[in-house]
Amino acid sequence: MKALWESTREEAADPAAKRFNASIQIDSRMYRQDMAASRAHAAMLTRQGIISEEDGHAIETGLAGILAEIDQGDLRIDPAAEDIHTFVETELTRRIGDAGKRLHTARSRNDQVATDLRLYLRDAVDLLQDQLRTLMSVLADQAEQHDKTIFPGYTHLQRAQPVTFGHHLLAYAMMFQRDLERLGETRRRLNVSPLGSGALAGTTYPIDRAFTASILGFERTAENSIDAVADRDFGIELLSDLSLIMMHLSRFAEELILWLSREFSFVRLDDAYTTGSSIMPQKKNPDICELVRGKTGRVYGHLVALLTTMKALPLAYNKDMQEDKEALFDGVDTVSDCLTVFTPMIRSLKVDQAKAKQAAKDGFLNATDLADYLTRKGLPFRTSYHVVRDVVRYCIDHDLTLDQLPLDAYHGFSDRFEADLYESIRLESCLERRASAGGPSPDSIAVQLAFIRSAAGAP
Ligand code: ARG
Repeated sequence: MKALWESTREEAADPAAKRFNASIQIDSRMYRQDMAASRAHAAMLTRQGIISEEDGHAIETGLAGILAEIDQGDLRIDPAAEDIHTFVETELTRRIGDAGKRLHTARSRNDQVATDLRLYLRDAVDLLQDQLRTLMSVLADQAEQHDKTIFPGYTHLQRAQPVTFGHHLLAYAMMFQRDLERLGETRRRLNVSPLGSGALAGTTYPIDRAFTASILGFERTAENSIDAVADRDFGIELLSDLSLIMMHLSRFAEELILWLSREFSFVRLDDAYTTGSSIMPQKKNPDICELVRGKTGRVYGHLVALLTTMKALPLAYNKDMQEDKEALFDGVDTVSDCLTVFTPMIRSLKVDQAKAKQAAKDGFLNATDLADYLTRKGLPFRTSYHVVRDVVRYCIDHDLTLDQLPLDAYHGFSDRFEADLYESIRLESCLERRASAGGPSPDSIAVQLAFIRSAAGAP
């Protein structure tokens, strides 16, 4: 297929250069958006009297026919076309003749590609937001079920303080809530129409940009025609949102990998999400988690690639920008694929409550609570801290936990200790008392659950 810009004379073409220049393999997936934008543009040209009603009608029915045939698999997008815009225009002209050649009046592929891409990514954001909402709901369900399941909380990967499994899961739900919100903000800047900016300098025809923008569901039109065709901020912003989603999924995957190891053994996953080893019969490898962790680098790579592609481009459009779509499409696909498996995997997650509780009992996770106890009995917190540090050292030396140490022995460290200390270091009461907003007490968890539920349900 001839490129739109090729002269009618037969010229020696270098097939390798032609292939190198083409983007059809990547951008053909925007055919729906391309045709929606062309239909809006043709309707506007007709309405403004720039093309005749007759031509406008021929274009509309021609495009509708092409779209239906591609959708049904009756028309194959020609892989020899330069790009999807070329293919659609050439196919249209083949069908309706000169009217097809009028479609590109007052338009350039530069505003066309920017329009198509924004439309495509707007749909992608809607899909990703739905997927995040589902993940948040699944996390909320699990968190509700485990709002009293004692779990060791860590800092520095050292057992630190008791939390509940629900509290821990809700921490991830909060990350995904921010991701959801970020996508919404990106969508707002994405939803601006470049159409009608032409190659860079607008057009001499009396076009109506607001009309095409409203047909295509854009919030408004881009203010400056040079910026409109040169801008790929929206793509970089989206890749940055996607990178953050991957970072969150990857941290979660990493924790699951740890918890699934024999060393931790806190959780189990449905067999659908682990694989066996070809040689070691005992193995259950967390492949899905590892792949999610592994694919994170790929999405970060796309972000850095697009930032780098854009960083020294003189205004306005440069062909370098054709590289944007591969990065963006793969970024969107990767995150969407990860969410598609991650969410049901989380739904299948089972906690070994006894193991988790044992781990929460073992590592002096209630030491802070014991210090708080002494503080309630009148010692300044720093003094309480030092007393409890000595108690913990003593217990480690004598292989005891805080609740096994007799009151007599406690009195050796401070006379403020009384029999009620044991109640205050019971894990359940430690959790109950951590009722500060955002904390692990059942009441605090209920507030967090309500927040996630409402964010996940919001349109
Ligand atoms: N395939 C091109 C791209 O993806 C379309 C825009 C081409 N514009 C141009 N002036 N060559 O960026």
